[in-house]
Amino acid sequence: MTKKGLANNLTNYGDPDFSLYLRRSFARSMGYSTEMLARPVVGIATAASGFNNCHRTTPDLVEAVKRGVIAAGGLPLDFPTISLGEVFLNPTSMMFRNLMSMDVEEMIRAQPMDSVVLVGGCDKTLPAQLMGAVSAALPFVYLAVGPMMTGRYQGERMGACTDCRRFWGQYRSGAISKSEIDTVEGTLAVTAGTCAVMGTASTMSCIAETLGVSLPGTAAIPAVHADRLRAAEASGRRAVELIGAGLTVDKIITPGAVENALRVLLAVGGSTNAIVHLTAIAGRLGIEISLARLNELSDTTPVLVDLKPTGENYMEDLFAAGGVGAILRQLSPVLDLEARSVTGETLGERLAADLGYADPAIVRPFAEPYQPVGGLVALYGNLAPRGAILKRAAADPELFEGEGRAVVFSSLDDLNERIDRDDLDVTPDDYLVLQNAGPKAIGMPEAGYLPIPGKLARAGVKDMVRISDARMSGTAFGTIVLHVTPEAADGGALGLVENGDRIRLSVAERRLELVVEDAELARRRGAKSDDAAMVHKRGYGKLFVDHVLQADQGCDFDFLRGVGA
Ligand code: FES
Repeated sequence: MTKKGLANNLTNYGDPDFSLYLRRSFARSMGYSTEMLARPVVGIATAASGFNNCHRTTPDLVEAVKRGVIAAGGLPLDFPTISLGEVFLNPTSMMFRNLMSMDVEEMIRAQPMDSVVLVGGCDKTLPAQLMGAVSAALPFVYLAVGPMMTGRYQGERMGACTDCRRFWGQYRSGAISKSEIDTVEGTLAVTAGTCAVMGTASTMSCIAETLGVSLPGTAAIPAVHADRLRAAEASGRRAVELIGAGLTVDKIITPGAVENALRVLLAVGGSTNAIVHLTAIAGRLGIEISLARLNELSDTTPVLVDLKPTGENYMEDLFAAGGVGAILRQLSPVLDLEARSVTGETLGERLAADLGYADPAIVRPFAEPYQPVGGLVALYGNLAPRGAILKRAAADPELFEGEGRAVVFSSLDDLNERIDRDDLDVTPDDYLVLQNAGPKAIGMPEAGYLPIPGKLARAGVKDMVRISDARMSGTAFGTIVLHVTPEAADGGALGLVENGDRIRLSVAERRLELVVEDAELARRRGAKSDDAAMVHKRGYGKLFVDHVLQADQGCDFDFLRGVGA
């Protein structure tokens, strides 16, 4: 890589010398000296937004990145991209992840920079930034904004967003009052940063460090900790050093690094969303992730980390307990130690050099794990020929083997309308089925965490088998089968399930079967009107529906996967 600085990617006026002259003269209007303008350029992709509470510290982080870039001899130039604040987007942030990835990729490609630091972290933001940066193929360092600290409610530690759901469940069942839930609302998210538990943002941050695209030891640093600013400064410095070093992204995100990331995902009891995002990121490099392989890894990778929603603790505890380094050290016998990070160091070299501190109460030893097998499993059967995902680490094992009567909701609107009706025909042993909540139907929202029907919640029922083509928040828990592929709106058998059908679930055998004869399913398919995919006549919605792939291909767009300019 040549250090072209501002001479990169010249605006095309048909006269390159004129283009550079014009660019420099306009750049001078920002007050930079000639010496600064001659330096290699480090772009800083930022995703700050008034609609994204998680990224509130971005301006401070950008200043720290700039400090590191300047100290190392570069010229830092920050630029904004789309920001995806998880709870501020309709119908779901997932629908805009690919749009943001295109924004990030194209702005890295089009503007004059030699390397880039990406600053973000909220659920879809981190995957979108990695997808875009991987495709842009410029050297980069990923800097997560870091997790929130916990709050307090009546002496109890509180963190977004596992506790949000727990208290909402209590409110729905009548166990706590309206004024109590209003007070709880003010205690759940009390600092800047991403959700305080091992939700999607934290899982993806751990994955970014494991893939080697973030600096070692940085994933779990709280958003408001001074170490986070030091990580930003170091990321800026490293981005300068990467220019011309030949450490291209395909040398960092290798098949071995992706498998390491899958191991960490399983060991942290991480978010189900992470399998979709990691599949999309790896897919940009032509690396396929097979759900069958996920099952093999899951059986040989115990859950080591005691963090909500699987366990009891929070990201600030993981940071104090040794962070991702402590997890990697425990997993090292099953990891690819030749995988290399942006530091240039192999994972083996990193682990040999680190101090080795770990608090075993939070990061358990491999031989004495928190749970004996990995957090996620893929299920297959006639209901999910291309797979479905269950987060067994956060589910009730008593519901893992059995058969239930289907209680079907044909859409989210139908669910909202009927789930709390007293005349709903449902018992605790039934399986709740939600159709038409997949990628093409509605952008695959986090609607798979179907609420327990009101009358059962009031009777004390805490968990039921729930099946859908939707996703679930990484902070949620329950016996919830997600990502059923293909989705109902894309010809999947999920769309053929009727009230009263029997469904067989076996986590031990990795099976999910609709107990209905093939001939009857064929009859229903023939009688079915068109699939319920979203209808958009123009704009991004049309692009999305026309090109989004199913969950087993990371819900990326068909034209964005694979290697190439
Ligand atoms: Fe941003 Fe949870 S809302 S990470």
